[in-house]
Amino acid sequence: MRTILAPSVLAADFANLGECIRQAEAAGAEYVHLDVMDGIFVPSISLGFPVISAIRGCTKSIFDIHLMIVDPIRYVQEAADSGADLITFHYEACADEMSVRETLDRIHACGCKAGIAIKPETDADVLIPYLQDADMILVMTVEPGFGGQAYIDACTDKIRRVRALLNERGLSTDIEIDGGIKKDNVLIPMNAGANVIVAGTAVYHGDIHTNVMDFMEIFKSNQ
Ligand code: DX5
Ligand code: ZN
Repeated sequence: MRTILAPSVLAADFANLGECIRQAEAAGAEYVHLDVMDGIFVPSISLGFPVISAIRGCTKSIFDIHLMIVDPIRYVQEAADSGADLITFHYEACADEMSVRETLDRIHACGCKAGIAIKPETDADVLIPYLQDADMILVMTVEPGFGGQAYIDACTDKIRRVRALLNERGLSTDIEIDGGIKKDNVLIPMNAGANVIVAGTAVYHGDIHTNVMDFMEIFKSNQ
């Protein structure tokens, strides 16, 4: 499977967001990972849809919106209108199974791809009923809410489990990982089956071009 870098703008210079995104794109990043938080599902509040709309024109990259909000179906249309290509919501943020399914359907009805995210404590098997319908599974490798945390080693087995569940069903669905990913540990989740790699601080702190090129080199050498 092709490996894709999805730099998280949470760690970018918010005063120069457009320029940061352009630099990452020029060096080979294909996705822009946009973390939307509500202060309830996670303690922080990050950026909202007006900001996402404003930066949509800066790049042709895929807009990968990671919703960390309760009852995410409420904001699917707004996320789509802001320029999302892919909208991922948390399994834990939905009231029940019906709501997970309705959220997936709503995202697809808006013309976007749909991802389901699980937190580090959530068992991979909760995803089984939705695997046929999801375009991506996001396995969080830190507790959602903040950038700059350390990768939780116990999540590696969960990535392996999700890949096995997909393989058993003949699905080649993308597995995204998010949290604590650095150049020196990215091969661990990749070898467990992840192929969409979110990195915030590892891309946007320091020289963006060099950081992205280094990730590209690692991806190439692992093909
Ligand atoms: C955390 C966010 C991440 C965050 C990752 O809740 O979902 O996307 O920006 O940041 P790093 O790569 O610094 O751990
Ligand atoms: Zn994220």
